[in-house]
Amino acid sequence: MALFRCLAIALALSFSSCYLSTPSSATPSDGFLQCLSEKIPSELIFTPDSINFNGVLVSTIRNLKFLTNTTVKPICVVTVTDASHVQAAIRCGRMNSVRLRVRSGGHDYEGLSYRSVRSEVFGVVDLAKLRAIAVSTDEGVPMAWVESGATIGELYYTISKNNPEVAFPAGTCPTVGVGGHFRGGGMGMLLRKYGLSIDNIVDAKLVNANGDLLDRMAMGENLFWAIRGGSGESFGIVVSWKVSLVKVPSKVTVFNIAKKLDQGTIEILTKWQDVAPTLPSDIIVRVIVQGQQTIFQSLFLGTCDELLPIMTSRLPELNVTKADCSEMSWLESVAFINFGNNDTAALLNWSSTGASAFVKIKSDYVRHAIPKSAWQKIFSWFRMNGAGLVILDPHGGFIDTIPAGATPYPHRSGVLYNIQYIAFWPSNDDGSTAKSWVNNFYDFMGQYVTKSPREAYLNYRDLDIGKNVVVNEVSMFDSGKVWGKKYFGGNFQRLAAVKRAVDPTDYFRNEQSIPPLP
Ligand code: FDA
Repeated sequence: MALFRCLAIALALSFSSCYLSTPSSATPSDGFLQCLSEKIPSELIFTPDSINFNGVLVSTIRNLKFLTNTTVKPICVVTVTDASHVQAAIRCGRMNSVRLRVRSGGHDYEGLSYRSVRSEVFGVVDLAKLRAIAVSTDEGVPMAWVESGATIGELYYTISKNNPEVAFPAGTCPTVGVGGHFRGGGMGMLLRKYGLSIDNIVDAKLVNANGDLLDRMAMGENLFWAIRGGSGESFGIVVSWKVSLVKVPSKVTVFNIAKKLDQGTIEILTKWQDVAPTLPSDIIVRVIVQGQQTIFQSLFLGTCDELLPIMTSRLPELNVTKADCSEMSWLESVAFINFGNNDTAALLNWSSTGASAFVKIKSDYVRHAIPKSAWQKIFSWFRMNGAGLVILDPHGGFIDTIPAGATPYPHRSGVLYNIQYIAFWPSNDDGSTAKSWVNNFYDFMGQYVTKSPREAYLNYRDLDIGKNVVVNEVSMFDSGKVWGKKYFGGNFQRLAAVKRAVDPTDYFRNEQSIPPLP
């Protein structure tokens, strides 16, 4: 008995440094908020009683469908301004058994950075005020340290203003946050030349479940591997990332060519599937299908005169001419792809004020070209009520050369293209028509896309493909496997092993976080 008591005291003492016990005098929420108020300036803590709580909560939300009264919201939002605040929030959370969600740019398609699907008590660590970007050179290679709360638009703008011949491979939407984007992959117009964002990250600073601030050396290669594309929020909060910048010429070429059904779009699209992934890696031609029209959107790292002979020989049906080309700086091309003009300063706008989208997204990967006869049927889906659009991002080139296990993102060799399905509806509509369109279309596409697993892209988060089951406060590996194999293929098991090593009690948890390996 005495031995048991000693063990219990020893365990209690050792656990007290892990912050797991709940003071008996207060509810977990009270204890958590009290603890925060002792460690973080009060003007950075917003509870539902604060006048600005709603303003702060919605400040970066992009998907307005999560702004309802029934949405499970946080008990506070902490707008940290320093890594030490992140450490304090995690320590207070663990001490009081209150979980945290982390938000950088707020673009999560299922809103998991600021809402919970289940009824639970949680706080949000909002990194929007941690958005510094510092550009440097390491042995002649341009680099940047970027804080997670910066947007990719700010990153593009800052590095390019510093040197117009450097760039960074990341997504096309400038308001996406660095933190969430890097933790899930980072797919954009430079992916065929330089891969995803995660293929160009060389260091990171992460606060782990014990509240320790770790760089790459301190966290070790397994954890560093996991946070780059493997659902970083499952392992901690990444405060900043060191990225290796890439070279681009002073002039690049872009084009947007629209082809209607009666202009041969089906023939071109059928051929595009094999051509786009095998073009030189300096060229990307992505596709947007909406209504009865396809837009072929391209970035080429060179001049129009260099591009034309390649397109004429590889995809003559598209009939790219000099009149289609616009030459500009790489930074202007980012603005052009987004806004259709060269207003590069607009890449710095990040607030969600004015966001009006209600969306549902799903994703697929195609490894075998879809036959022409099937495209006829596919186009009939875009005549239906509630029809949205799809974006096809070709792979091949550099992204293909990276082994599937080098990062958690496994959709590499053999992938022809990624499909993003987008359903959207206005605020005065309940979305049921658009949602059933996307669900039925996704079911129909099952016959043409990858199977066993049906691959999906983590950054296009979709809770329909599976949610964790939680037993005794720990997410179950078997339930995670259902969705995890789709996002991560054979890398899921390794992610779960890293989770077991660094967060065995599953403190960092959401509906699709990596469960600890049993
Ligand atoms: P948010 O803050 O909501 O975080 C997303 C997830 O990451 C959450 O689970 C969150 O907890 C976690 N997280 C955030 N910060 C973290 C941190 N510092 N440490 C650990 N975990 C963290 N994708 C793409 O590849 N290419 C593209 O072109 C686009 N385009 C695009 C346009 C629009 C309008 C939207 C809404 C989304 C995209 N995306 C995209 C998808 C985007 O990459 C994805 O939603 C990112 O996760 C968003 O990152 P945020 O930081 O903005 O989101």
